[in-house]
Amino acid sequence: MANALHKNDRHKNDRHKNDQHKNDQEKEAAASASLKFIKDGQVVGLGTGSTAAFFVRLLGEKVKDGLKIRGIPTSEGSRRQAAGLGIPLITLDDCQAIDVTVDGADEVDPQLRLIKGGGGALLREKIIASATRQLVIIVDATKRVPVLGKFPLPVEVIKFAQPLVAKKISALGADVRLRLQPDGKPFLSDENNHILDCHFGQIRDADALARQLSDMPGVVEHGLFIGMANIVLVANGTEIVELRHKA
Ligand code: A5P
Repeated sequence: MANALHKNDRHKNDRHKNDQHKNDQEKEAAASASLKFIKDGQVVGLGTGSTAAFFVRLLGEKVKDGLKIRGIPTSEGSRRQAAGLGIPLITLDDCQAIDVTVDGADEVDPQLRLIKGGGGALLREKIIASATRQLVIIVDATKRVPVLGKFPLPVEVIKFAQPLVAKKISALGADVRLRLQPDGKPFLSDENNHILDCHFGQIRDADALARQLSDMPGVVEHGLFIGMANIVLVANGTEIVELRHKA
């Protein structure tokens, strides 16, 4: 019996490793496909998360090969990665507009509405996205959903308001959890705020929810990115599906 259980566990582990490997291959394929949108001379927004990290790595290789761009990171994490790869970096002080930003997402629906913020960088990501002419989102196939909300919606709140905002979001029907670090202390965003992960299950009216959240005092930003993505590159195995926002 013990042996049989071990065998099952081994199979589960192998399956998990295979799925992880497939996801990573898809993430890298989507990242690689996004490089065609980057041209010499551009200001490029550098996304955050495991998929965007593939993009930053590939972009670093292009820069080494002579591509002339300036990067603007969406988090301290992507700033550190890009600096380590020798990508020239600027801040919002140095540019009026960003030509193209490549970033990941936690979910994408058929209208190219997104949930972002699983990595905790939604605030800077949304600010950079709002200043970007062409927002290119790169995802593996698991991120494509018919209705947003299976992934808990991250909402960034100032610490003072957190208990009040948590109650208000619960009243909208979500199971709300304060994001914690592995040591049990609250997670802090790059801007020193808390994040509430809000489990809605299915978000039937994403536009209305976005407005409700934005209207709550103490909410700094939420992870619904509506009308922002211009292009979504979905890697499905080795195939890349390019979805474009219909005006
Ligand atoms: C970071 O805050 C997020 O918005 C990420 O872009 C998103 O969570 C996707 O991350 P992965 O590419 O790691 O799944």
